[in-house]
Amino acid sequence: MNSTNPKKTRVLFVCLGNICRSPAAEGIFRSIVDEHRASDLFDIDSAGTGNYHIGELPDRRMRVHARNRGIELTHRCRQVDVEDFNDFDLIIGMDASNLQNLRRMAPSVEAARKIRAMAEFFSPGARYDHVPDPYYEGSEGFELVLDLLDDGCRNLFNRYGGI
Ligand code: 4NP
Repeated sequence: MNSTNPKKTRVLFVCLGNICRSPAAEGIFRSIVDEHRASDLFDIDSAGTGNYHIGELPDRRMRVHARNRGIELTHRCRQVDVEDFNDFDLIIGMDASNLQNLRRMAPSVEAARKIRAMAEFFSPGARYDHVPDPYYEGSEGFELVLDLLDDGCRNLFNRYGGI
């Protein structure tokens, strides 16, 4: 991915399957960026460390919960690639396992510095230190993920969106 705007921050959200948490993070962050008419400031994508669902739309349950908040998730699942360390400035993992997998893949020390935890962007006092995998959970699990991501993505935008 070649950015035409050198000031763009390129953000890649990463989870295990790339069908629940990271495409939701991508969709939420994109909607916040659009809300602020700041799409020229960011390139946004998501990917999974696993390869189970490549080419699929996000999990239907996550699409329904996101749509109820006005967010359409249309990402097609893809696996993280070592090239992503060149193509993105921030590579944001949802949980400790995602972060460990990303650190193993990083081709250099500089590349590894791009890896961040989504929880770093949670507001002070957040009840979680990661974004829990909702795949085997009920509706509350999906709502919790969306709440955590909404909070984290707003803080991420404020940190990198220049407001
Ligand atoms: P995600 O959730 O990492 O948030 O996309 C999962 C989706 C699928 C699987 C695991 C987690 N899976 O094992 O297929």
